[in-house]
Amino acid sequence: MSTLGNSTNIFWHECPVGKADRQKLLNQQGCVVWITGLSGSGKSTLACSLGRELHSRGKLSYILDGDNLRHGLNKNLAFSPEDRTENIRRVGEVARLFADAGLICIASLISPYRKDRDACRAMLPDENFIEVFLNMPLQVCEERDPKGLYKLARAGKIKGFTGIDDPYEPPRSCEIEIQLKEGGVCPTPVEMAGKVASFLDDKGFLQAR
Ligand code: ADX
Repeated sequence: MSTLGNSTNIFWHECPVGKADRQKLLNQQGCVVWITGLSGSGKSTLACSLGRELHSRGKLSYILDGDNLRHGLNKNLAFSPEDRTENIRRVGEVARLFADAGLICIASLISPYRKDRDACRAMLPDENFIEVFLNMPLQVCEERDPKGLYKLARAGKIKGFTGIDDPYEPPRSCEIEIQLKEGGVCPTPVEMAGKVASFLDDKGFLQAR
């Protein structure tokens, strides 16, 4: 019996079918691929491309996309530092559940604050949290401006926009960093996904232990 946060008198219930059993069934290792970067850096594109690549290899993955989750689970949250922290905490907890289910969970959120990402990492064994920094220069993201939000932020019509008047804190050390190629060329979605899939393969996530 224990007290956790505001919950008192709660008990953990153990079930006979565990993570190892589910992983065996799926022939893969559950983990979290956490994609962080500026708005417009290509996080959702990478997530979808990686999802497709894993699917084609017969591996079960699921995407937790920041924009999409704000349509449901997180629709009561805005973009204040406190709300972003709560957004990341919730998604971290959901990602942990998906990894425990044996899935390769692909979380794709700006997640601008280092301490929030590190808190999600701390929810899992370290090797099961794969942080992917989509390191695209602000100028590139702003030129793309797929939703027209940078334009609004520059015009002062959106306050606290990441990269404009709210900070983005890059990872100090992450498992994978994706950058522009020689001559400032953007890597293709397939190239980006291939890099992440190779990492997962090399580390043994794409087979049962
Ligand atoms: S996070 O900062 O809390 O991780 P999240 O990934 O969920 O952000 O959502 C980011 C998306 O919300 C952006 O891609 C953009 O479409 C939209 N958005 C709206 N307002 C803002 C803002 N102030 N800063 C960043 N993104 C915003």
